[in-house]
Amino acid sequence: MTATDTLFRPPAPAPRRTAPDLFDFLAALRANPLTTWTEDHFEHPILAGEGALGRVTVVHDPAAIRHVLVDNAANYRKDDLQRRVLAPGLGNGLLTAESDEWRLQRRTLAPLFSPRRVAEFLPPMIEAAERLVRRWRRRSDGRTLDVALEMTRVTLDVLERTIFTSGLKRDPDALGRAITRYFEALGPLDPLDIFGMPDWLPRIGRIRARPALRFFEEVVGELIEGRRDLLARGDPAPSDILTLLLQAADPETGRGLSDLEVRANIVTFIGAGHETTANALSWSIYLLSQDDSARERVEAEVEAVIGGSRLAPEMLPRLVFTKAVIEEALRLYPPVPYMSRAALAQDRIGNLKIPRNSIVTIAPYVLHRHRRLWHEPCAFMPDRFLPGPGAREGIDRFAYLPFGAGPRVCIGSAFALQEAVVVLASVVKAGRFELARGHDVMPIHRVTLRPSGGLPMRLRLRR
Ligand code: HEM
Repeated sequence: MTATDTLFRPPAPAPRRTAPDLFDFLAALRANPLTTWTEDHFEHPILAGEGALGRVTVVHDPAAIRHVLVDNAANYRKDDLQRRVLAPGLGNGLLTAESDEWRLQRRTLAPLFSPRRVAEFLPPMIEAAERLVRRWRRRSDGRTLDVALEMTRVTLDVLERTIFTSGLKRDPDALGRAITRYFEALGPLDPLDIFGMPDWLPRIGRIRARPALRFFEEVVGELIEGRRDLLARGDPAPSDILTLLLQAADPETGRGLSDLEVRANIVTFIGAGHETTANALSWSIYLLSQDDSARERVEAEVEAVIGGSRLAPEMLPRLVFTKAVIEEALRLYPPVPYMSRAALAQDRIGNLKIPRNSIVTIAPYVLHRHRRLWHEPCAFMPDRFLPGPGAREGIDRFAYLPFGAGPRVCIGSAFALQEAVVVLASVVKAGRFELARGHDVMPIHRVTLRPSGGLPMRLRLRR
C-alpha cells in the first residue's frame, strides 16, 4: 500500500463527464448545484460559454481571479442572481449593497471588526462554547446529536452575545428557529430568480420566509429603539456590536447609520456569520471523526495548550494544528462555495474577451479542489495549512478563497476564525464525536455548503 492509499478523501459528488443539457442543468441546480460541475471545471483554469444564464466565464486561474476581484474590481459588481436570493432578507446591508452605498457602509463598519475589537469578542465566544459543553454534560453523553444543529446553536449564541449583550428579551431559541426557517425557505434556487424574472412575481420561497423575516425585523427593531433611547439619555450602554453600530460614523463625512441600515446590518451579520461558521465547525468535527491521526494530534495540542484550565486569550495563537484543521475544512467544504460578478464594461482576461453585462463565476468549491493548483486536491491534509514556506505560506492567495478577496472580502473573517478555533478546541477538550452508523455524509449547496440531512453523531464525553 502506498502513502496516498491511506489518505482520507471525504465525500463529494463526482464531477460530471460532460456538461448537462438545459433541463438537466436546471434540475441539478435546484437539487444540489454542486452536481452541475464537470471534470473540465476541475482541470481547466478558465472556461467560457453560453449557458442557460447567458454568457458565463468560469475563472479558476489565480492571476485571473486577482484581476477580477482586486486589480479591476471597479468593473465588476455582484450579479443579480445573488442579490435576488440574498436581498429579501438582508435588505441593503453590507453584503448586498453596491456602489456608493456599499463604500460608505464598508468605511463605517470596518472599525467594528478591527483586530482589537475582534480580540475583545473573545470572552463571549469562550462563554458560548462553555455553555454548549455544559449543556452536553447535563444530558447528552452517549447520545446521538445533530452536530450541524449544535454548531448552529453555538454560533448564534456567539452572535447574540456579541451583537446584543443585553439579550433578546424573548425565548432564546425563537430567533434560532426563525433563522433556520428563513434559510430553509430560501435555500433552493427559484427558477424565477435564475431567469431574472421581475421582482413583483411572487416566489414560493420568499412567501414562506416572510413570517421569519417579520419576526427578525420586530425583535431587532425593538432592540434598536431601546438602545437609542439609552444612548440619548447618556446612560452607560453595553459595549457590543449594537452600540458600535449606533455610534458608528463615516470617517470621511461623519454621517451615522439610519435605523434601517443598522437593522439591515444586524440581520446581515447574523445571516452571513452564523451558518457559515457553523458549517466550518461541523465539517471540521466530521473530518476529525474520520481521521484518527489528525484527531489525536488536535487532542494532544488541546491537552498541551489548555490542559485542565479555562481557555484564555494567550493560548489561542498556540492552537496551530487546530486552526490548520479548520482551514483545511474551509478548503474542502467552503461555506460560500460560489461567487459571481457581472462585468459593468467590456474587459479582457488574458486573451479572452469578457463582454459587458456577462457573468464571471469564481467557485471556491472548484478552485479549492482544482487539479492544477493542489496536491491531492480531494484528500484531507491539514498539514498543508501549518505555518511555514513549504505549507501555508506557499499557498497562492488567489487559490484559496474561503473568505473571498479584494474590496468585498469577508469583513468577519478574523471574527469567524477566532470563533471556530475557540469552539473546536472546546469541543475536542470535552469529548469525541463518532458518526452515527448508517448515515451517509454528502455536501449540499443551499445558500451555504452544508451536510445534507444534517450530521448525526454520537457524543462520548471525557470525564
Ligand atoms: C467561516 C465563516 C465565514 C465565511 C466562510 C464567510 C465567507 C464570506 C465570503 C466568501 C464573502 C465574500 C462574498 C463575495 O465576495 O461575493 C463574505 C462577505 C461578507 N461576510 Fe463573511 N464569511 C464568514 C463569516 C462571517 C461573519 C462571522 C460575519 C459577520 C459577523 C460575516 C460578514 C460578512 C459580510 C458583512 C460580508 C460582505 C462584505 C462586503 O461586501 O463588503 N461573515 N463572507
